[in-house]
Amino acid sequence: MFKLLLITLVAIIHNSSACTEFIVEVKGNKGNVVGRTMEFAQNFPFNVISQPSGEVYTGDVTPGCKGKTPLSWTGKYKSAYLASATRLIEDADKLWLDGQNSAGLSVGALYFDGYAQYPSELVGDECTNGISHIQMIKYILSVYGSTNEVREALSNGTFPAVWGRELKVGFIRIGLTQNYIFPIHWSIVDNSGDAIVLEYTKDGRQVYENQVGVFTNNPTYDWHTTNLNSYINIQRDSFEPKTWKRAGTEYTIKSFGHGSGFLGLPGDFTPPSRFIRTAAMVRFSGNAKNAQDAALKAWHIINSVDIPKHAVDDFTNWAVVKDLKNNVMYFRGVNYISIRQIDLNKTSNTEAEYVKLNGKFEDCVQDVTSQMKSYDANIKEELPAEPRDEL
Ligand SMILES: *[C@@H]1O[C@H](CO)[C@@H](O)[C@H](O)[C@H]1NC(C)=O
Ligand SMILES: *[C@@H]1O[C@H](CO)[C@@H](O)[C@H](O)[C@H]1NC(C)=O
Repeated sequence: MFKLLLITLVAIIHNSSACTEFIVEVKGNKGNVVGRTMEFAQNFPFNVISQPSGEVYTGDVTPGCKGKTPLSWTGKYKSAYLASATRLIEDADKLWLDGQNSAGLSVGALYFDGYAQYPSELVGDECTNGISHIQMIKYILSVYGSTNEVREALSNGTFPAVWGRELKVGFIRIGLTQNYIFPIHWSIVDNSGDAIVLEYTKDGRQVYENQVGVFTNNPTYDWHTTNLNSYINIQRDSFEPKTWKRAGTEYTIKSFGHGSGFLGLPGDFTPPSRFIRTAAMVRFSGNAKNAQDAALKAWHIINSVDIPKHAVDDFTNWAVVKDLKNNVMYFRGVNYISIRQIDLNKTSNTEAEYVKLNGKFEDCVQDVTSQMKSYDANIKEELPAEPRDEL
């Protein structure tokens, strides 16, 4: 019975392959906000955790490194991150899946199943400058203050060697487990909007400039940007009517309603379709006026890739919006769908703190019945002037 559960569990984790991330720019180079969803086929418990600077970390090494001193580093920046509190995955708390630091750097780990391939061991000097792939976000957020620092470190050889660490998945306390290497790739974005994608595949380590500002899952990042060519017709404005002439007759076709510029935009939840849909939303909703407006826009964009439970294999467990200028992390869970936030400037500078990411639906809904007043139909309101956000 446990064996069957284990197979189901591993299948569930294995089949989880959906996540969407994107960047919303604040007009006038005044900051960037990152939005992101995380999908699983199960409702995993997650925490939002703040980690002060100053913590000393040790790189995970492979058996061949015996006798060599592993990498040790001290956290330079304070971070806010998300990690699961599940008992079913060994060291789940150490697998930071998303986060941001006090210097305005953001890193997200997204599923990359079937394409991710990491070295299985550290060799030679890598033993003293190596981390496991599950330490990636922790390392980047605690060490680097900008995307360019990460880019430079990756190209000048100071970035640690990375190996793929197997984690036990299953009923750890009774020893019924399977080993699993979480297949992930990473998006690194800073407050200036500078963004790269980091992938480890059969071709080795790949670093891409994230020019479109969108990131999903399979296949590799460059495939998605090429695929965008097939959607060159997508535009903000609706199409003008077109007249079709034949044998002395004319027939005019026109848009059924607004939004015809988005005709052909894929509506499904596969990674390529989420990439295209999100790219269109980000590109054509324009630049936000300020960070708060960008966060609000990000939540609306998230709604277009939010997967309802059981509609397909995976569903959206949580979503975060990270304001990289103000060090604010907004989040919502699958049941607690109201938006909460933590202000990284105000979390403890001496100890790690956490709040549960999810909660009960009934706890997140505001009952306003007691605020209702007798209705006066004569009270009218002005329309706020809201020019369309510029592209
Ligand atoms: C490599 O880049 C990192 C990040 O910018 C920097 O801190 C480090 O000094 C550089 N090292 C060398 C040897 O250039
Ligand atoms: C947090 O601190 C940063 C840097 O000092 C500042 O730019 C930002 O506005 C602060 N955030 C909030 C919410 O006050």
